[in-house]
Amino acid sequence: MFRLTLLRRAVVLCLFFHAVQIRGIRLSSTIHEEPTSLARALAYGPVKQNLTYLKSNSIETTTSGQDSSSWDQTYFAVHQTSSGGPTDNYYGLHATMGVYGHKLKPGQLTSTYITVTHSGDGVKSSFNAIQVGWHIYPENYGDSRPHFYTYWTRDGYDATGCFNMNCPGFIRANGALVAPGDVIKPISGVHEPVQNVTLKVLKDKASGDWWVYYGFNGNPTGVGYFPRSLFTYLAQKANGMAFGAFVVADKTLPTPPMGSGIRPNGGQGRAASFTNLRFIDQDGRSSPMTTDWPKLVTNNKCHSITPIGHAECLYGGPG
Ligand SMILES: *[C@@H]1O[C@H](CO)[C@@H](O)[C@H](O)[C@H]1NC(C)=O
Ligand SMILES: *[C@@H]1O[C@H](CO)[C@@H](O)[C@H](O)[C@H]1NC(C)=O
Repeated sequence: MFRLTLLRRAVVLCLFFHAVQIRGIRLSSTIHEEPTSLARALAYGPVKQNLTYLKSNSIETTTSGQDSSSWDQTYFAVHQTSSGGPTDNYYGLHATMGVYGHKLKPGQLTSTYITVTHSGDGVKSSFNAIQVGWHIYPENYGDSRPHFYTYWTRDGYDATGCFNMNCPGFIRANGALVAPGDVIKPISGVHEPVQNVTLKVLKDKASGDWWVYYGFNGNPTGVGYFPRSLFTYLAQKANGMAFGAFVVADKTLPTPPMGSGIRPNGGQGRAASFTNLRFIDQDGRSSPMTTDWPKLVTNNKCHSITPIGHAECLYGGPG
């Protein structure tokens, strides 16, 4: 059951960030399913000021709630839109990201992803999300290689949803070149070029289904979709989007590297990047991200993410 716990804590925490941002402190009362010390610290600690600040006008939030006492360690470096407001209507996201290899043990997870979400009626159990990206997750695959992955939920990561094709949900397109869960290779080496995956999630206007596109060092092609009928709120639209990375480790293990394992200020182009960041509108047209988004970083000393400029940013850290 450890695997589930690890994942749930990661996703619940991610959800928590979204939720707090959406509804302010009120929402903390609905985050009772995984009452971790970090969640409590975030809800009741100084971070709530920062979240309020973020909601009003900041583009930067730094949280410092990491509590090493008793549970799995989770760190984020994420950019996210505001979400849940009347003008928060989103239909797709496109990004190119480098893929890196690291030696991880069971009990460690590193993930780089993009996500579209809907906060539902504000209660955790109505939260809808699609997440796609690459991750290294030995407990799920029995190896320490990067895999292309998908994840979905329509109830705040509780009873619905899963990775890849582990449960019904994702429908593969005929002739798709890859399937969720496939190994990504080759990976970027220290002296070799960065290998890039381009991912796109968009709502098809005609069918209402959410399509996933994947490309390796090239333009992405459709690999399959999440049917509109899988979702409640996401059936209409997304009201939040985010991209970034997170790492999780059992408390007995070091946190694994994020991105390339090098912080953006490590310089010389060695930090991992998101490039070609693009919005996709209701009609499927894409345009480069020209504005910065709020960011959420659990501990700036360990991992960071740079502001979005020219539709790009750098992120990562050693762990
Ligand atoms: C809140 O955010 C401000 C501005 O980014 C930062 O200087 C401060 O350290 C943050 N406080 C906490 C507790 O994270
Ligand atoms: C991957 O993307 C980076 C950043 O845009 C670029 O410098 C690099 O050449 C790309 N690698 C390949 C193999 O296309």
